[in-house]
Amino acid sequence: MKYCILMGSPRKNGNTASLLSIFVNSLEQAGSDVSCIWLYDKNIKPCIGCKNCQNNWDGFGCVLEDDMQDIFDQVYECDFLILATPIYSWYCTPPMKSSLDRLVYGMNKYYGEKKGPSLWEGKKCAIITTCGYRPEKGADVFEEGIIRYCKHSSLIYSGMLSARDEGDKSSFMNRQIAEKTEKFAESLLNMRLDANN
Ligand SMILES: Cc1cc2nc3c(=O)[nH]c(=O)nc-3n(C[C@H](O)[C@H](O)[C@H](O)COP(=O)(O)O)c2cc1C
Repeated sequence: MKYCILMGSPRKNGNTASLLSIFVNSLEQAGSDVSCIWLYDKNIKPCIGCKNCQNNWDGFGCVLEDDMQDIFDQVYECDFLILATPIYSWYCTPPMKSSLDRLVYGMNKYYGEKKGPSLWEGKKCAIITTCGYRPEKGADVFEEGIIRYCKHSSLIYSGMLSARDEGDKSSFMNRQIAEKTEKFAESLLNMRLDANN
């Protein structure tokens, strides 16, 4: 099982990164193939809605020249896409939003003269997020957006791990959050086992 993580936090040692390091460790200990793309290190232009990608049903077909072709290829080759992001203004951070826009058109060939295929049909997709508010009020809008995004794209939505940043007074990571993260990784690994049976 190949996991591709799109990491949307700008902070290399931030809250989302601390969840992610425990999560990746759990997957790797179980022998999974994991790649992580730090989106803030990449040149990712926003989608311009030109629809040129809709004329190419075999690949990305995007006319913009930046790092998105390589990201498309890595997502295309994975079995499980993980969207890791802090919540900014009730949604994901800007490079993740641009990536989601570029992928929803580049992967779903629905918008040309004839309706074409979803190139990523059947892949799984999960969320890892941190937010300042309680997750029910901080991450709910992003989760709902991704549930609809998955349904539209024929991806299998597989759940969300979310943890609250309580501010500077307490440190973010603690035993409870670490255990919750390990359990989340285990639940995704169990999906792989279910699918193999
Ligand atoms: C620009 C900005 C916007 C934010 N917007 C929200 C928000 O809408 N809802 C929320 O719950 N937290 C919000 N937060 C808090 C972050 O989601 C939270 O601190 C997160 O843990 C930061 O993760 P990081 O350390 O990986 O950057 C915002 C933080 C920043 C910097």
